[in-house]
Amino acid sequence: ERKICLSVVVLGASGDLAKKKTFPALFTLFKRGFLPKNVAIIGYARSKLNIKDLRATIAEHLKGASGDVSRFLDLIAYLPGSYDSAEGFQGLQAVLVTREQQYGMCPAGRLFYLALPPSVYPQVCKGLKENCSEMAAQCNSWLRLIVEKPFGMDLASSEELANQLGALFPEEQLYRIDHYLGKEMMQNMLVLRFANQFIQPAWNRNFISNIQICFKEPFGTDGRGGYFDQFGIIRDVMQNHLMQVLALLAMEQPVSLAADDIRDEKVKVLRCLAAVRPDETVLGQHTAAGSQAGYLDDPTVPKGSRTPTFASCILRINNERWAGVPFVMKAGKALNERKVEIRVQFKPPAATIHNNSLDAMRNELVMRVQPDEAIYMKMVLKRPGLSVEPIVSEMDLSYKQRYSATFIPDAYERLLLDALRGDQQHFVRRDELRAAWAAFTPLLHAIDAGELTPLPYPAGTRGPHEADVLAAKAGFVKTSAYVWKDVSFW
Ligand code: BG6
Repeated sequence: ERKICLSVVVLGASGDLAKKKTFPALFTLFKRGFLPKNVAIIGYARSKLNIKDLRATIAEHLKGASGDVSRFLDLIAYLPGSYDSAEGFQGLQAVLVTREQQYGMCPAGRLFYLALPPSVYPQVCKGLKENCSEMAAQCNSWLRLIVEKPFGMDLASSEELANQLGALFPEEQLYRIDHYLGKEMMQNMLVLRFANQFIQPAWNRNFISNIQICFKEPFGTDGRGGYFDQFGIIRDVMQNHLMQVLALLAMEQPVSLAADDIRDEKVKVLRCLAAVRPDETVLGQHTAAGSQAGYLDDPTVPKGSRTPTFASCILRINNERWAGVPFVMKAGKALNERKVEIRVQFKPPAATIHNNSLDAMRNELVMRVQPDEAIYMKMVLKRPGLSVEPIVSEMDLSYKQRYSATFIPDAYERLLLDALRGDQQHFVRRDELRAAWAAFTPLLHAIDAGELTPLPYPAGTRGPHEADVLAAKAGFVKTSAYVWKDVSFW
């Protein structure tokens, strides 16, 4: 693997995504020895930047020893060029071919990272296809593209984009990144579910009452209002990231760990989703509170915007395993905390010799995605000591404590490495994307048509109270008098 002439081309090299995510992830891979010896990183963008300035802005986001940083920056070259004419891409091709000829004996790899708005994907992909897909070294050489959401605004526009890209590059060359698939807890899901015999038989409608998938961020749009306003929280987070979480939670066991076996099962379960109903949706938009501005106070947000910064909705999977088990998906900006977690709430025992308050003492398997990965199972136990009263306790696996010495890579680092290795397991296939859009598109159209009104909620709170009512309607019972303690604090 190390005997390869690798060229990583970052298109949109001067943009935010490239600076904050792509280059730092490449840097970590470099630092940890995952990049081959013959590697070049070529930035490509429209502006006439000088390489010194580009390297300086990239360096601002790199964390590491100064020797590593400067060796990494030395690998970076820059080529200005437009996105819509052949000329720039021909220049890029010349650079790539020269490198590949220089290392003539070894295979070549070209990874194009499109850190660009999807509106330019079609023209950029066309430019790459027509000008940059002839490789000098043939044997075992490869060419791959990484693209990132937003993929369209709804099912039809996403399909249109997929058709345009699909006409240029086959699915095996397209890596649709969803960085949630690179998170530790997401990658753990199939192991947790299918390698634990006590979980397997309980993972269905007979034992599970409801599942909560919850995404909370304490900050608002922070200057990204102009971007965010066109999309809203459902398109920004739920249709992609949380839908992937749902797929991994709900899918059947794949035939193998091969990328397409996994993705076949994800598609299958996503296609069983009923369209999300407006009457099972609560929308919110945050108002100013304390030191936090309201969403509408952001100067980049259009006046009177009705874009939701919060949404909660019920998803229903129509298959034998899940019929009747509501999946409640909730996501919001400017809430009271930063937290992403999955809460699988089990049914209470059918008959009990204790007292009927057991309904509020249900088993829950909680997977905390961030911050501080943890898995804990809420259990009902006898209160220790002389009392025989049942109380809620937990079996707790906090990663910080149990795996304190383990390096947990960032999502982009893992996914970039996968792309370099040609592993599509954690990338979204076209039919997955289609199924995910299908479930949300009718709701999104109803929202766009002004049929749903976001409820105001003060920044820094849990969001509209109506979302709790919706969760209760879905059968969620809040455990009384129980708070999980993060043991790593003590
Ligand atoms: C991005 C969204 O895709 O994911 C952002 O556009 C959001 O709005 C981010 O903040 C969340 O990612 P993470 O890794 O911080 O949970």
